[in-house]
Amino acid sequence: MKEEQTKHLWWQEGVFYQIYPRSYQDSNSDGVGDLRGIIKRLDYLKWLGINAVWISPIYPSPMADYGYDIADYTGIHPLFGNMDDFDELLKEVHARGMKLILDLVPNHTSDQHPWFLESKSSKDNPKRDWYIWKDAKPDGSPPNNWLSVFGGSGWEWDETTQQYYFHAFLKEQPDLNWRNPEVHEAMYDVMRYWLDKGVDGFRVDVMWHMVQDEQFRDNPPNPNYEPHMATYEQLMPVFSTDQPEVHDIVREMRRVLDSYDERMMIGEIYLPIHKLMTYYGSENDGAHLPFNFLLLSIPWNSEHIASEIAIYEGALPDGGWPNWVLSNHDQPRITSRVGEAQARIAAILLLTLRGTPTIYYGDEIGMRDVPIPPDEVQDPQGLNMPDLNLSRDPARTPMQWEDATNAGFSDAKPWLRLPEYYRRKNVKVQQNDPYSMLTLYRRLIQLRHEEKALNVGDYVPVYSDKQVLAFIRQYHEQRLLVVLNLTHRPSYFRVKNMTLKGTVILATAPEREGNTVEDYFSLGGDEGIIVRLEEGT
Ligand code: NOJ
Repeated sequence: MKEEQTKHLWWQEGVFYQIYPRSYQDSNSDGVGDLRGIIKRLDYLKWLGINAVWISPIYPSPMADYGYDIADYTGIHPLFGNMDDFDELLKEVHARGMKLILDLVPNHTSDQHPWFLESKSSKDNPKRDWYIWKDAKPDGSPPNNWLSVFGGSGWEWDETTQQYYFHAFLKEQPDLNWRNPEVHEAMYDVMRYWLDKGVDGFRVDVMWHMVQDEQFRDNPPNPNYEPHMATYEQLMPVFSTDQPEVHDIVREMRRVLDSYDERMMIGEIYLPIHKLMTYYGSENDGAHLPFNFLLLSIPWNSEHIASEIAIYEGALPDGGWPNWVLSNHDQPRITSRVGEAQARIAAILLLTLRGTPTIYYGDEIGMRDVPIPPDEVQDPQGLNMPDLNLSRDPARTPMQWEDATNAGFSDAKPWLRLPEYYRRKNVKVQQNDPYSMLTLYRRLIQLRHEEKALNVGDYVPVYSDKQVLAFIRQYHEQRLLVVLNLTHRPSYFRVKNMTLKGTVILATAPEREGNTVEDYFSLGGDEGIIVRLEEGT
């Protein structure tokens, strides 16, 4: 429990939604989603109750990493439309009282970005030092052992200038040198460009990667590495990520945002909790929301989840606002990790925990990872490590809107295939079904908007055992009890040392709503309920 905060900001009260723009809605029949397509679907997002939309990169890019290799930070890729389309999108989002968050990728550019083309043109080019160039070792090998997240060495040899450059991801994504102040200014200008247009904030890509060890020391081996893991896991990236200097950069970015009214940033950071917390900034002057990926990575087990929630809540700095995520474009979807029945429990968890929830597009209809035949794989991570099943394509497939050609996503062949069953699993079918995942999501979001306890109330852990996870969300006298069965078998819930009485206001099985529950009751397998507790119990 944290001290009560009286005023909450939009990014604390709101429900966020991530759109992978290639896959949301195609409007010009090329099989790839675009900005006009998103505009067309804004009423759906409003209907769902979404407050803020984050779109993955839409900038000009050779698409080596599907837009995370940016060739122009202030343009729009023609695949997605043009700047007029963007301006209209922003206007239409705001007209519906929603916010728009863009992806900012400051760690690296495309190798086709004019900055890099200049940088690699000669050793004395003024932009040479905007990237990380190093001489080979005397035997010609790379300057150190740092690896690329996408496989192989993190260093690429440049024949023309006879030096290596560093790339934490693809060789087509050279890392910017954040030890050069000119890089700071260039990136803050990019931020101001979008903020001046009225964008509400940024999701900052790989925030913890931005600076490397100044001495370029070798990373140590990872004793827990196993052959089924990505090759990057062979080493512990202690010298290539999460360096102390990164916090100065984050603080500067924050200052740029703070020079506007109520803008915000989310940091993409995959680190253990105690390190993640440092990204809030020592004076709460860092990222507004360092993404909390706990629910993406820990085993789906009630005791485990209860204890991780407690650790996360306890580790938050004063004034640090929590947040939760179930899926994103880099990870398997929640339904594919825990199954459809438990994905309903996960939805309740996401939308009743304390902190800003981000929903990944399609999770609200229970979209599953779609099997992509080997000859259709597009993701470089999948292509570079073909035997490890690491392709992210399955979680990036087109949104399933309706029982129509290509699920209403596009008139043309979609860039990634749809599952054969889309005709029965789609938005339209589920909108009319009181028992669907979509109805559950929508009702949960509405409830979160209506109930201060869910929205901004305290988190009070109540109980957990091998099956059940229970907690109370409390705002003054209002108390809502959330009880979730994280297994498929029936279970019991019993509170010791307290009496409890209340009414079920939302349940995975809506038939249970309106029932009274007391101290000791049973739950069905995969059942979750939200109970309004009577005052005085
Ligand atoms: C993180 C992004 O989420 C991921 O999709 C991308 O491949 C890497 N950053 C590299 O930009």
